[in-house]
Amino acid sequence: MVLDAQALTRLFPGGIRAVDAVSFGVAEGELLALVGESGCGKTTTLKMINRLLEPSSGTVRFKGEDIAGLDPVQLRRRMGWVMQGDGLFPHFTVAENIAVTPRLAGWSEADTRARVPALLELVQLDPAQFRNRYPAELSGGQRQRVGLARALAAEPPLLLMDEPFGALDPLTRDSLREDVQALRERLGFAAILVTHDMAEALLLADAIAVMRAGRIIQIGTPAELLNAPADPYVETLLATPRLEAERVAALSRQS
Ligand SMILES: Nc1ncnc2c1ncn2[C@@H]1O[C@H](COP(=O)(O)OP(=O)(O)O)[C@@H](O)[C@H]1O
Ligand SMILES: [Mg+2]
Repeated sequence: MVLDAQALTRLFPGGIRAVDAVSFGVAEGELLALVGESGCGKTTTLKMINRLLEPSSGTVRFKGEDIAGLDPVQLRRRMGWVMQGDGLFPHFTVAENIAVTPRLAGWSEADTRARVPALLELVQLDPAQFRNRYPAELSGGQRQRVGLARALAAEPPLLLMDEPFGALDPLTRDSLREDVQALRERLGFAAILVTHDMAEALLLADAIAVMRAGRIIQIGTPAELLNAPADPYVETLLATPRLEAERVAALSRQS
């Protein structure tokens, strides 16, 4: 297991149980999707994994070590993080944005500089064309690609992604999803993908944890969810992608 979360709970003032006794594991190279509607506790869960937030109770083990005993800054350097929104520094160029991660991980200036073009190529951006641009001079999809390059810069064993494709048009989203899958095959990192989009989870994930009101109500492979939804709410989330797939199939039979 790269990551093992046990009975994670996070309370907020006013009696809010944002995350309530959530347990899950992520194996080497596996992609786990946390799926659920807005406010169900996905981001809060993710932030407890890299200690941007401390749990009220429960434990997280990263590569066998209880993260409560690790330095939070050191820990974050060992996990890639693709934020909700692009999270790029607006006054840094693309190259400077990407260099932030290897620099934090303690790489030399020479190694860091040498790594930037390779990282840009990894996410399908031509270094000559893009390295000196500012985030405002990029499309949404290009910004997400830079965010992905930055998250992967220090070769983390685990990548945390919070709705990374949420704000993109469908074609850009598809091509970025494909690139993430290709990068996983090539680099072998494990990932946790937070999304409200069940279709996305079905397409990308090895395992899906369905969250509702702070709890995980089912965890399983896409096939397990589709064949044996454990709860009417899981059925509801599956209904939209199912119906869309059936309608498209019906249309293509007609034509
Ligand atoms: N810092 C905070 N203080 C109080 N309540 C919070 C805070 N952060 C999140 N919450 C609440 O916790 C719940 C889960 O939020 P969040 O994890 O951001 O959901 P999601 O990412 O699934 O949309 C929501 O009800 C939200 O309002
Ligand atoms: Mg969120």
